[in-house]
Amino acid sequence: MVDELMTRQADHRWEAGGQPRAVRVIRVVPESTRVKTLILDARVEAQPGQFVMAWLPGYEEKPFSLAEADPVALTVARVGPFSSALHALQPGDRLWIRGPLGHGFTIEGQRILLVGGGYGVAPLAFLARQAIARGIQVTALTAARRAEDVLYVDRFRALGASVVIATEDGSAGERGRAPEVAARVLRSGSYDALYGCGPEGMLEGLRALATEFGIPAQLSYEAYMRCGIGLCGSCEREGVVLCLEGPVLRFG
Ligand SMILES: Cc1cc2nc3c(=O)[nH]c(=O)nc-3n(C[C@H](O)[C@H](O)[C@H](O)COP(=O)(O)OP(=O)(O)OC[C@H]3O[C@@H](n4cnc5c(N)ncnc54)[C@H](O)[C@@H]3O)c2cc1C
Ligand code: FES
Repeated sequence: MVDELMTRQADHRWEAGGQPRAVRVIRVVPESTRVKTLILDARVEAQPGQFVMAWLPGYEEKPFSLAEADPVALTVARVGPFSSALHALQPGDRLWIRGPLGHGFTIEGQRILLVGGGYGVAPLAFLARQAIARGIQVTALTAARRAEDVLYVDRFRALGASVVIATEDGSAGERGRAPEVAARVLRSGSYDALYGCGPEGMLEGLRALATEFGIPAQLSYEAYMRCGIGLCGSCEREGVVLCLEGPVLRFG
């Protein structure tokens, strides 16, 4: 009986995850020396913050945030074998995607601050577009080590967000790490909610800031993911199965 229930639950999750489907690259947008956005001939119904599992023959499947859903866009930083293989794709080439998966961002408040570290800006531009369409005032902080790694400035501006740039070496915008600059932005205005995506240390800094300023935080966490649908346990973090209950977690 228990086995039967578990099998049914697993089947349900496979259905929720869907089968990988072949899609073609229709356009490649260079974002920086290390980052490209792949625009795909696919559309999905998705919340910003949800992700897809992407696959190429000969590689493991890996998760990527939806940078857009219609058409699907993935912003990929070249860090290792799989991301390098994605960077080598040209318009017309195929890859396989499965999803959308996970739990994304919920829009709340009338004035919100989005903080993206590196390619963490990817789901935040998608979120900014939806929030601005609802009349919400959006400030987008795009943070990186150096000027040449800062992403999405024009995209956020074109959407109608106020943009703040932060670099650790001060080569563009304000000097400092993302949480330090976010603290200055929060002090300079009245914000209802904080959203973040980026390296773990940055997210912990943002979580502390949200507590200090008494506002909710929705933060997108990364973990090693294999199944993406709650079956393998590889993405469990402090009792939370991130591929199902995250990657976006809400605090406050
Ligand atoms: C929910 C979720 C969403 C994600 N969204 C995106 C996204 O939108 N865009 C994107 O590019 N990636 C995203 N990732 C990460 C992505 O899934 C892969 O981990 C990444 O592409 C590395 O795969 P790889 O095989 O190229 O390199 P790997 O072999 O996994 O890594 C190569 C080397 O780079 C290091 N490394 C791995 N990841 C990073 C990193 N992020 N920064 C610096 N060094 C790193 C590793 O420690 C290793 O030494 C996401 C991950 C999760 C869990
Ligand atoms: S990736 Fe398998 S349980 Fe989350």
